[in-house]
Amino acid sequence: MSQDMSAIVEILVNEKLVDEQMMDQAMGLAIAAALRARRLSPPNPWVGAVVLSASGEVVGRGSTQAPGGSHAEVAALLEAGESARDGVLVVTLEPCNHQGRTPACTEQIIAAGITRVVVAIEDPDPLVAGSGIERLRSAGLQVSLGTRAAEVRDQLAPYLHQRLTGRAFCVVKTAMSLDARSVARDGTSQWITGPEARVDAHNLRADSQAVIIGAGTALADSPSLNARDADPPATRQPNRVLLDARGRVPATGPLFDQSIAATIVFTTVSADPSAVAAWREAGALVEVVEPQGSGVHLEQVLQVLASKYGVLQAMVEGGAAMHAAFIEASLMDRVVAYVAPTFLGREARLAFDLDGPSTLGDASKWRIADTMLVGSDIRITLDPVVAAEELS
Ligand SMILES: NC(=O)c1ccc[n+]([C@@H]2O[C@H](COP(=O)([O-])OP(=O)(O)OC[C@H]3O[C@@H](n4cnc5c(N)ncnc54)[C@H](OP(=O)(O)O)[C@@H]3O)[C@@H](O)[C@H]2O)c1
Repeated sequence: MSQDMSAIVEILVNEKLVDEQMMDQAMGLAIAAALRARRLSPPNPWVGAVVLSASGEVVGRGSTQAPGGSHAEVAALLEAGESARDGVLVVTLEPCNHQGRTPACTEQIIAAGITRVVVAIEDPDPLVAGSGIERLRSAGLQVSLGTRAAEVRDQLAPYLHQRLTGRAFCVVKTAMSLDARSVARDGTSQWITGPEARVDAHNLRADSQAVIIGAGTALADSPSLNARDADPPATRQPNRVLLDARGRVPATGPLFDQSIAATIVFTTVSADPSAVAAWREAGALVEVVEPQGSGVHLEQVLQVLASKYGVLQAMVEGGAAMHAAFIEASLMDRVVAYVAPTFLGREARLAFDLDGPSTLGDASKWRIADTMLVGSDIRITLDPVVAAEELS
């Protein structure tokens, strides 16, 4: 290669590196913008977008608005105005290509005169699934896929899971002592952890569209299940979901107070019709699903929450029997355990009432995704280890 040629190659390589760095940074801004939509956008995904002008300046930022409002791309294009012409759109999720409550984003991107689109990940929703990228390419726009994809996949895990499996993403939360007990010998369980951990758990509620409890917890605690201590405050309260196969829980107390939030009861045909009638009279929505053992069919619960109620993330808040049932059905997608620096002893109730494997080799495998000191407690986040064969 001549000296001139190698100088040109070096310049091109450097330009490519600078461009990659710039798109990487712009995607970082889009990821940050998406976070602002976390509690607002469901059942739509929380997406962030940035518009760069032809000279590379950030001229627009946007995130998904509440359902019926603008998608992130359109919000960013609106802010950019005429400066979007010949510019680049950087967006965390593939733009939609269909008219829903709002017009297709692809057409608005084309009309704004954008020439290049940088996308982190494809949208698995069957209504999109690559068609957004195809439409933009067929209109002559340059489209790339994969910038900071792992981060965006993590950020959108509940949405991606819901669209790929048809089930709500299931987060099990527990507060327990160091010896994994969540109820003391005398039946007291409030509060094992400190105020900071409770605010953190209320943030988790505010990030969820449903909070699920079993009949045992409803009877013992008469909980409200709202995100009253979330910081920042919750924009919407999650649906309160009671799993009561036999109609044991009376339609009274805060759980059935419709001024707090909606209540959905999942039950089976075994429930006494008078209990079902009382739930309905109190304003609760009642779903009759198939039985599973002596309880309700948990997979059907997560499917109905996803398909009928648009729930992306459901949080399971006890008790021990419920936690065990979700683990045994392999329906737990994440565990968030707040561990308090105390011991409650062998007569206190376990946080997970599991039979457990007979031998260590059969123990379920989890990955510690995160640990954090929250006040005087430790929060441990666990994700299931997915077997290689399930990924292929
Ligand atoms: N420290 C904490 O973090 C914490 C959190 C929550 C609760 N708690 C404590 O936990 C205690 C309650 O726990 P618990 O284990 O007795 O009750 P639970 O797990 O709240 O509820 C179990 C009940 O849920 C119903 N259920 C419906 N479908 C089910 C299914 N597929 N699998 C399993 N159960 C199903 C069953 O009643 P039916 O058959 O009648 O439907 C079952 O008896 C309370 O004392 C509460 O204070 C502690």
